[in-house]
Amino acid sequence: MDNVTFHDHKPEALSLYDAVVDGLSRKDKSIPPKFFYDERGSELFESICRQPEYYPPNVERHMLSQLAEEIASLTGTGRILVEPGVGSAGKVRLLLDVLRPAAFVPMDISFDYLKNVMKVLAGEYPWLPIHAACVDFTHSLPIPAETPSGPRLLFFPGSSLGNFHREEAGDFLGMVHDMLGSDGMLLIGVDTKKSESLLHAAYNDAAGVTAEFNLNLLHRMRRELNADLDPKVFEHKAFYNGDAGRIEMHLVSTRPQKLRVNGHCFDLEAGESIHTENSYKYTPDEFLSLAKGSGFSEVRHWVDENGLFAIYLLSTI
Ligand code: AVI
Repeated sequence: MDNVTFHDHKPEALSLYDAVVDGLSRKDKSIPPKFFYDERGSELFESICRQPEYYPPNVERHMLSQLAEEIASLTGTGRILVEPGVGSAGKVRLLLDVLRPAAFVPMDISFDYLKNVMKVLAGEYPWLPIHAACVDFTHSLPIPAETPSGPRLLFFPGSSLGNFHREEAGDFLGMVHDMLGSDGMLLIGVDTKKSESLLHAAYNDAAGVTAEFNLNLLHRMRRELNADLDPKVFEHKAFYNGDAGRIEMHLVSTRPQKLRVNGHCFDLEAGESIHTENSYKYTPDEFLSLAKGSGFSEVRHWVDENGLFAIYLLSTI
């Protein structure tokens, strides 16, 4: 394909080893959720998105397909479309024909996965210049040098913002605001607050795929760090923390154990957990005040008929 280029911006800061040693040395053990996404983790996430209990992808996809024309009438065509954490690029396909971007800059943390997905996308959209970048978007949003100039639109679906702590979410939106510049727009999908039972089911699917996704982090530690641990003595735990307004995911040790990584030894008690993910939920008021605090103004927002998910179009001015 001659309409796609690849760029490895993988920063040195992205080290599973550093994150594991740092996170397991803490009193409350944790590992950041970005380390879920090796090639296997990305595949498992795609599989989560097909589980009936995990409503966000279907609701958001339905909304985007209904709203595509309206969104394009508000953004105009010919923008530089940037999508951090693009994954399988399923949602952007609903917009490309109407947004007709001048170029597409997909970013993902898993380079192999990104390459595979973008080779296919480039074939499907031969008119679209694609400049794909392997990026840890939690740190920076580097745009490949050969990307044409022009007004930018950042697409951030899937409620990925929810995986940042609240203050970090504001910082991330501030970084997006800077990257977009004066003529920029942000189209972002954010999960809403709703009944605890729906949220609980979404992160505890009956087929056990979310559990496998969570436990894959331990398999990844074994594969990549040669960690001495037995994934079978950990359990997936996900619950809604109403005070914090977030789903929490943990890997709980079912018995006392020692976990060894390259000369480091970490003790875990029975019932002790490694906190692997937060997924914050926002009411429209909460989200809009966060976005305004980062310099954005609202163009329009939409909530689906059941109040399950929201899409916001914001402008940098
Ligand atoms: C990617 N992110 C928005 C998902 C979420 O809902 O927080 C990741 C996920 N974790 C478990 N299920 C899905």
